[in-house]
Amino acid sequence: MKLKDRVAIVTGGSRGIGKEIAHQFLKEGAKVIICATDEEKLLKTFSNFKGLYNDIDYCVVNIASKSDVDKMFDNVMGKYGRVDILVNNAGITMDAQLYKMTEEEWDRVIAVNLKGTFNCCNAAVKIMKENGYGKIINISSSSALDGNFGQVNYSAAKAGVIGMTKSMAKEVGKNNINVNVVVPGAIETEMIGTVPDKILETWKQRTPLKRLGSPEDVAKVCVFFASDDSGFITGEVIRVSGGFTL
Ligand SMILES: NC(=O)c1ccc[n+]([C@@H]2O[C@H](COP(=O)([O-])OP(=O)(O)OC[C@H]3O[C@@H](n4cnc5c(N)ncnc54)[C@H](OP(=O)(O)O)[C@@H]3O)[C@@H](O)[C@H]2O)c1
Repeated sequence: MKLKDRVAIVTGGSRGIGKEIAHQFLKEGAKVIICATDEEKLLKTFSNFKGLYNDIDYCVVNIASKSDVDKMFDNVMGKYGRVDILVNNAGITMDAQLYKMTEEEWDRVIAVNLKGTFNCCNAAVKIMKENGYGKIINISSSSALDGNFGQVNYSAAKAGVIGMTKSMAKEVGKNNINVNVVVPGAIETEMIGTVPDKILETWKQRTPLKRLGSPEDVAKVCVFFASDDSGFITGEVIRVSGGFTL
């Protein structure tokens, strides 16, 4: 097992990509704490895994709130004594063309996707520096690299995550902390649930691998970055998109 007894926090672990990251980490022997805002969905996911794996926990947290995040890290430290892996996966979209976008749509998307990632990294790095070990995986989006119609807020936040990752990698490398970014293309989750079938079909046809991605496609790459197999990789950005932009 690649992550035996590692303690991992996966934000947005109640569904979609985050749920599958938690699943793959559990299969690799990690103790996993999932967080999200909707307690009912968290509890459902927790119960799904609890029967199969012992080391799963959950926390109701709004990652945009620094005090919520700090409380979660305090609780995890109280129970497990360390945090080895952090996956900043939680994210939201509130799409609108720039000229129609409200200040609230801009602020919320930045608050969750960018500030939320800062909040968790800030808390995690303090612990990881003390332990001289850490793996941080930030989930960005192809919107950050290529832009996307109706997503100026989301692409700005996700591009910010890439810049933040590279700066962090330079700061914490000496503490044996690796920080990397995974950039999913179109992955079949609730997040793309409102995209019309016709457009999904166009995306598939444009993709050299001729399909959309699955949460497992992303989660397997996260296992690689969370494990010591990627020990000499930091500040990197890897696309999981089936070659969509080639
Ligand atoms: N699906 C795609 O095609 C795609 C493509 C590129 C990038 N991504 C990125 O991949 C990540 C996962 O996406 P997904 O498709 O799995 O999305 P999803 O199915 O909508 O799941 C999002 C997760 O984030 C949680 N979350 C949202 N706001 C939160 C907050 N303020 N605090 C804590 N948790 C919060 C959600 O739970 P609650 O609602 O209960 O809080 C849920 O667990 C996101 O960062 C997304 O931007 C996805």
